[in-house]
Amino acid sequence: MRLGVLTGGGDCPGTNAVLRAITRKAASDLGTTVIGFLDAWDGVLEGRTVALTTDVVRGILPRGGTILGTRRGSPLDYPDGVDRVRQALAEHRIDMLIVIGGNGSLTVASILHDDHCIPIIGVPKTIDNDVMGTEYSFGFNTAVQIATDAIDRLHTTAESHDRIMVVEVMGREAGWIAMHAGLAGGATAIAIPEQPFDIEELARLVARRHDRGRYASVVVLAEGAMPIPGSLDVPTRELDEFGHRVYGDLALHVTPKLAELTGFEARVTQLGYVQRGGTPTSFDRVLSTQYGLAAVAAAIDGASGTMISLSCGEMTRVPLSTARGVLKRVDVSQFAELAPLLG
Ligand code: F6P
Repeated sequence: MRLGVLTGGGDCPGTNAVLRAITRKAASDLGTTVIGFLDAWDGVLEGRTVALTTDVVRGILPRGGTILGTRRGSPLDYPDGVDRVRQALAEHRIDMLIVIGGNGSLTVASILHDDHCIPIIGVPKTIDNDVMGTEYSFGFNTAVQIATDAIDRLHTTAESHDRIMVVEVMGREAGWIAMHAGLAGGATAIAIPEQPFDIEELARLVARRHDRGRYASVVVLAEGAMPIPGSLDVPTRELDEFGHRVYGDLALHVTPKLAELTGFEARVTQLGYVQRGGTPTSFDRVLSTQYGLAAVAAAIDGASGTMISLSCGEMTRVPLSTARGVLKRVDVSQFAELAPLLG
């Protein structure tokens, strides 16, 4: 049996650890090298590959990014895209393609499998943790740790100056990073895309904390959080070429308003791509390794059309279509339960 693999969507810490596990298990259980397609689907369409041997993956376990490169395009954008995918797999005699990707890549993978009978196994990869069908995707723990470290650092500078620190984290449609990092860092307030926020309520939480004699207020905003309509002017977010909203301005609007409403100085920190770069945490290295081993085991079992899923601490398989066109978002009732911890 021969395996192919590609990494699609935004890069994510732990991806190389998945590639290493896939390569080593394929070498040990199947006695074959794995064909890695470069730059996601582009490599499939353009015939750009690398043979993943145990030598090639040596030393990549702690490395961020992906040695295969990644892009956001899809073969479904081309009239002959599906045929070209079939040709590429035939040319390299690939029996199963492992797609390591987020919502976009897994949706494409599901369409290719379900509608075009292409043999595919999915592995969920996103720092945002918004892939439906798995409890945690690898990369999320690293992003939360980076954001938590930043919040801890912001606390001491906020305290010294009696300032409000507004920190914007990633999460366009789902607030998992904001919620977990905000909780871990003892944030004063957290705003997530799933629940429109009231700027006056944020200001009240800051003022209440100050009244209790605390001088460090850290407000955590997911980049895709939205104010209650009409309560704060936020420019309309444009769509990029892949139909994703482009964010990166929310904190710039929230911060001066909070300063105005509370009378305290306020400063902005936008964490941006540091959340995605660099070495994975030990948790993510282990989780990524488990995902990679489970993907090869599924390939050996011929479990085409499945996605590897973390469920109750175990690696399991769910239909690939579980992740197709949907997002796993924060349950707002669960979010509301955090209220006693804020302020
Ligand atoms: O999907 C992961 C993610 O990091 C989002 O949280 C973020 O908004 C987006 O990717 C940024 O993507 P790009 O690499 O296209 O700028």
